[in-house]
Amino acid sequence: MMLTSSLYEGVSPTQSFIVAAGVALLIIGIFNGFRNLPLPLPPGPKGYPIIKNAFDIPSKHAWLKYHEWSKQFGSDVLHLSAMGQSIVVLNSARSIHDLLESRSAIYSDRPWTAMINEAGYRDGPLTVSSGPRHRTFRRLSSEVLSPPRVQEWRTLQEEKVQILVKELLEKPQLFRAHIQRFISSLLLEIISHGHTVEGDDDPFVRNAKELSNDFIEFTTPGRHLVDILPILWFVPSWVGLFSKKKAIAARKKLREGLHWSYRQVEEQVADGTARPSFAASLIERNSSPSQEDISIYQWISLATYAAGVDTSSSALTSFILSMALNPDKQRKAQAELDRVIGSGSHPTFQHRSNLPYVESIIKEVYRLNPVCPLALPHALKSRRDDEYRGWRIPKGSTVIANSWAVLHDAELYPSPFDFRPERFLERSLGESSSSKEPMDPDPRKFTFGSCPGQFLVDDTMFIAVATVLAFFNIGPLTSDNEPGYTPYLISQPEAFACSITPRTTADQKFA
Ligand code: HEM
Repeated sequence: MMLTSSLYEGVSPTQSFIVAAGVALLIIGIFNGFRNLPLPLPPGPKGYPIIKNAFDIPSKHAWLKYHEWSKQFGSDVLHLSAMGQSIVVLNSARSIHDLLESRSAIYSDRPWTAMINEAGYRDGPLTVSSGPRHRTFRRLSSEVLSPPRVQEWRTLQEEKVQILVKELLEKPQLFRAHIQRFISSLLLEIISHGHTVEGDDDPFVRNAKELSNDFIEFTTPGRHLVDILPILWFVPSWVGLFSKKKAIAARKKLREGLHWSYRQVEEQVADGTARPSFAASLIERNSSPSQEDISIYQWISLATYAAGVDTSSSALTSFILSMALNPDKQRKAQAELDRVIGSGSHPTFQHRSNLPYVESIIKEVYRLNPVCPLALPHALKSRRDDEYRGWRIPKGSTVIANSWAVLHDAELYPSPFDFRPERFLERSLGESSSSKEPMDPDPRKFTFGSCPGQFLVDDTMFIAVATVLAFFNIGPLTSDNEPGYTPYLISQPEAFACSITPRTTADQKFA
């Protein structure tokens, strides 16, 4: 005791502070030293020397393989490498939140691939690198797709859905074509170009369909070998190793398509016949646009239509399929509609807050078969590697959010493969208990990511689902087997047939 106290005698407070600060700096230094040691990459399949996982990357239904690997390696975060390009796959809500949301400043870039670049899609809103052009796209999109703007389209949506009902009454077997036309007319006529869709072979619809097919073809990760082995780009096309010619042809088609649809509206604005639309407002506001302005206006007006048509149609077609396969859920929703709005009446947006079961059906449709199971690939744009939960995420990595895996995570969504809208209503612990378990999380967060079209889609889904359920009985399937889902970036039900018959009053109301 005496010895200890004598050691401290004569030490001033300043000296104590200097010693304490020195010790702290030493600890921080040691800690940083550890941090600078090369951290391990997240786990993943080993692959072969040099080419690593180049031939492991699945081109079809990749979400299933990533989910399987995630289980096999016991990790929600996976790392693959193809010829030095890192691909990080996030298979959990936690990792998607931590990286794509909390660190969005560095994780919002889009990956560069040879095919996207060569097919000309690198300049578009869905694949452009993060930076000023992307910010301009976001700002312009919000002019027509923000929640307050979307509310302005509601009356028109209520009107358009009546045409869908009439078409379903007349030719129910063509439900897929009717859905496409319904979505096309909403987007093209009301929002993007002020164009009225005419017939099945409408030039605007055909143009956007072709461009959308190309977009899916060129942006699905792993679909083209040249994306994994860019060196192949230098192999002459006659060797036939990959579709270089296809990418070059797609680029030409894209340029023409962008120019053509915009030109139509420019001519209408010039001769005073343009109807109100996003494209017309872009043209009218700027009398001397630069080349860059014109390119941005062409892209954003086309994307406002083309990015929404296949995606929204897929969700509505999945709804028809889900109802054909789940008659008990369908009856429950119809009972709610009859109770709230009265049998044979038209649902409107005003009824929405009183239709929780219909709302839950929409959520379950989004969840069970997500339209974009792998969302859109992101990329890490940073000068240095990032660190996450003790792993190294190499700079420039392509980062894929496996939304499908999250939406089928049994901890978030018990019995994930069952169609159970009830999961989104409060789960009671038992009749005698007054406490409630929290309901399953809203799947829209994972279905849409940062999609600017989500508020519009959600309104479209509500009015279409509520109206179709109010007026029709859907199912059973009349085709032989339950259809699978297409395996690429935008996934939709394969061909199927089912009966769609009017509920008692439907034909009288719409005659
Ligand atoms: C069921 C329908 C739809 C689904 C499931 C869907 C899903 C998505 C997803 C997952 C992304 C990527 C988000 C991210 O990287 O975090 C996205 C981006 C985008 N979507 Fe949608 N979408 C749908 C409809 C629409 C509609 C109707 C429009 C326009 C009217 C639209 C316009 C866009 C645009 C412009 C982007 C690029 C956003 C950006 O990178 O800044 N989408 N969508």
